[in-house]
Amino acid sequence: MSTTQTWPEERAPRDQFGRGLGDLRISVIDRCNFRCPYCMPEEVYGADHAFLNRKAWLTPGEIRRLAHLFVQLGVDKIRITGGEPLLRKDIGRILAHLKDLPGLRDLALTTNGTRLASQAKALRDAGLSRVTVSLDSLDPAVFAAMSGGRGRVEEVLEGIDAATAVGLAPIKINVVVQRGRNDHTVLPLLEHFRGSGHIVRFIEFMDVGTLNRWQLDQVVSSRDLRDQIHARWPLSPLDKNYRGEVATRYGFDDGQGEVGFISSVSEPFCGDCHRARLAADGTLYTCLFSDTGVSLRDPIRAGASDAELIGLIQRTWRGRTDRYSELRRGDTVERPLRRVEMYRMGG
Ligand code: GTP
Ligand code: 5AD
Ligand code: SF4
Ligand code: SF4
Repeated sequence: MSTTQTWPEERAPRDQFGRGLGDLRISVIDRCNFRCPYCMPEEVYGADHAFLNRKAWLTPGEIRRLAHLFVQLGVDKIRITGGEPLLRKDIGRILAHLKDLPGLRDLALTTNGTRLASQAKALRDAGLSRVTVSLDSLDPAVFAAMSGGRGRVEEVLEGIDAATAVGLAPIKINVVVQRGRNDHTVLPLLEHFRGSGHIVRFIEFMDVGTLNRWQLDQVVSSRDLRDQIHARWPLSPLDKNYRGEVATRYGFDDGQGEVGFISSVSEPFCGDCHRARLAADGTLYTCLFSDTGVSLRDPIRAGASDAELIGLIQRTWRGRTDRYSELRRGDTVERPLRRVEMYRMGG
């Protein structure tokens, strides 16, 4: 079966709640040069930790083949994540393999920004449209506490400048907010980026994975944060950019741009979740909180046809019943002991 065939509309799968497949997040590596305590705590991921063997990673060709199938099933947005995707030496080839997929509207990448200054131009030239940078605080001591002592604020800011210079816009800045850790540095960070054209988005600290010792009292709700910000710089709500957008948008009334809130804990958005996740080893997950997935790499390497792969993806998506964050809100779920870590399946 040719990989260029277009599949009829009815092939686009709907899950058990009628949600289509619209957004594919591809983690290209499970390694990271940071040790953010909320993601890869240093005490667990020491020097002797066994990450995936490189041979387990999907190759650029395999990534393209799968992405092409996903696009034929309804995906029009791809985000490259990690771990830290810029640690992958062939990241340019991966992007170049994806950029021309017919029907793909958006090719974005999430990075911690430390390698961005040197790579921004190459990424843009390879076909990347835009970049999202994780940056939890501008205060060096707080930044260090949030990154596990790795990286420097200046490097990340230089990365953002380089990305701006080559037009990887709109640039979004993702800030995970943890009470007592970085919540007191939120306003200075916003002051820095207000008016720059970059979009700061605050993410409620989530109970992803099993290792970050998540406690509800460490979550600063988006509502609290928005009230704090509004008291300093009045805000007004903005419409969503697209259906299923994760962030709720607000504009500064004085015209200095916008800010977003990602409220997975206080206001879950499972109802509109069209996101599939592909881990670096080719495992397909249908929810950020999944504990199991389906390998697409094994059938590919065993010689599966496109039709067989399409069938597998369709069956997996059609069986999907995930709505973890909504269930958690209702307090009806125990936190599972087994769950795939976020750096492996991709944020
Ligand atoms: P845009 O394409 O720019 O709108 O970005 P996005 O909505 O894809 O957001 P991004 O990839 O930057 O995600 C920001 C953060 O939101 C992630 O790092 C997660 O913390 C959280 N997030 C994204 N998708 C999901 C999801 O499906 N479920 C939950 N619970 N959280 C999510
Ligand atoms: N809660 C919320 N966001 C998280 N991220 C990683 N771990 C968590 C968590 N526990 C975010 C990172 C980055 C993206 C890849 O995921 O800060 O912006
Ligand atoms: Fe690395 Fe991002 Fe996880 Fe931090 S949150 S350890 S930067 S993958
Ligand atoms: Fe989607 Fe799962 Fe996140 Fe809900 S918890 S929005 S189903 S990834």
